[in-house]
Amino acid sequence: MISLRRIRSSWAKIQYKVGDLTLPFFQELFRLNPKLEKLFKDDVSKVRALGLQLKMLDKVIEKAPDLSELTPALHQLGVKHAKYGVKFSDYDLVKQALMHAYTQVLGNEFDSETRRSWENGFDIVADIMKRGVAVSVYARLVFVTSSVAEETDVTAWMKACKNLPADIADCQASFEGQERDEANHWLERVSSRISEDH
Ligand code: HEM
Repeated sequence: MISLRRIRSSWAKIQYKVGDLTLPFFQELFRLNPKLEKLFKDDVSKVRALGLQLKMLDKVIEKAPDLSELTPALHQLGVKHAKYGVKFSDYDLVKQALMHAYTQVLGNEFDSETRRSWENGFDIVADIMKRGVAVSVYARLVFVTSSVAEETDVTAWMKACKNLPADIADCQASFEGQERDEANHWLERVSSRISEDH
């Protein structure tokens, strides 16, 4: 269950204190997995990443529950993250770190029901970003050779992703005629499998 009302009212309070989120967020994230620190070039890049994440979440909250307009941007953002070296499992850690930072900033006002709504909402955004990676990588894999289209290993997606154009539309534009039909067929199968997995 997601209460948009709870998300929006807690978000309004967090807006006044966004600067206070940075320290607890990164302390918790690197406590959960110290290896994640190497994804960020320096402190400026950390502040930038969290700031832009919150900006994107702000847009999501504004549009929710209809995220269709933001979906292409979120797909591309997922691909960009895969290229930074972000793994699918890292999204859960970022979610936990964000919830920790909200608790530090809002205290008791961040009650368990509000937290659950945020967690479920975050999962929806993360799933859209992950789906962007999967679709994009599969589009490339199917294009290169249809024999690898059965590949389901996330590590392989990540590896393959390094060679992808960042823009999914560019990936899909590489298909023509019968190849395009075949790719769409695979993408459909893959997408439904991904929504089952996540
Ligand atoms: C809901 C999930 C997330 C959202 C909405 C989000 C949003 C963003 C945005 C909008 C950017 C800026 C991209 C650009 O330069 O155009 C960014 C950068 C970045 N994000 Fe995320 N992010 C999410 C999850 C994650 C996760 C799970 C990680 C893993 C630790 C992560 C690590 C990074 C890094 C390393 C950068 C690049 C920072 C830099 O060097 O400039 N993000 N994020």
